[in-house]
Amino acid sequence: MEFELARAVVDELPGPHIRAHRGRMLYDHIRQWRPTRVLELGTARGGSAVFIAAALRANGAGRLTSVDSCRREWKEPSAQETLERVDLADLVVLDRSFSTYTWFLKVQLEQHLKKGGDPASAYDLIFLDGAKEWSVDGLAVVLAERLLAPGGWLVMDDLGWNFEKHSYGPRHYEVEVSGLSETERRTPHLRAVFDLLVKTNPAFARLIDEDGWWGWAQKKEAS
Ligand SMILES: C[S@@+](CC[C@H](N)C(=O)[O-])C[C@H]1O[C@@H](n2cnc3c(N)ncnc32)[C@H](O)[C@@H]1O
Repeated sequence: MEFELARAVVDELPGPHIRAHRGRMLYDHIRQWRPTRVLELGTARGGSAVFIAAALRANGAGRLTSVDSCRREWKEPSAQETLERVDLADLVVLDRSFSTYTWFLKVQLEQHLKKGGDPASAYDLIFLDGAKEWSVDGLAVVLAERLLAPGGWLVMDDLGWNFEKHSYGPRHYEVEVSGLSETERRTPHLRAVFDLLVKTNPAFARLIDEDGWWGWAQKKEAS
């Protein structure tokens, strides 16, 4: 599916969702690198899932698994409705089995290890756009790296986001903002995750810090 068709649908969605220029980055990345096993952490109403699935459709191959919390039900529209509007639902599995995607990742890792398989063969691209909180996303990137295939990419949105400036209200998903220390409120958590846990991880060969807001990390190719 062409990018502009995906854009038209996402532009009509209420938030939260990535903006069209970010959607374009994801779409172009998928057209260029042709991942077939894509994982998204943070679905909401399916905006970024539309950009990802549209690129997979244009490639003619690939599936997206998009995970969100069972605690939250987005409506008007739901992610399923959004994807059906553009005829992309057949390319996407929506998973809300657990309260948090870190548990989804734990189960994935466990299943691969139980089968005696290499967990580092599960996904070619993992897009993280969820909690924006150190404890959740710090663990998420550690687990995501274990599941990422050699040469695969981890993409993180919102590196500059912080609770003081950007949270929607007194509670941001599971976090009571007033319960955070001033430092925790002011510090962009995902910046810390990217700089301290991703950039320093020797499993990644290539790191791109894009306009202070998106982080890209490519896992080393198999030797
Ligand atoms: C910014 S929205 C995602 C927007 C979506 N990627 C898009 O561009 O259309 C963040 C999503 O992450 C989900 N989320 C936050 N913390 C989570 C967690 N620990 N586990 C699972 N989902 C979580 C929220 O429910 C919300 O739907």
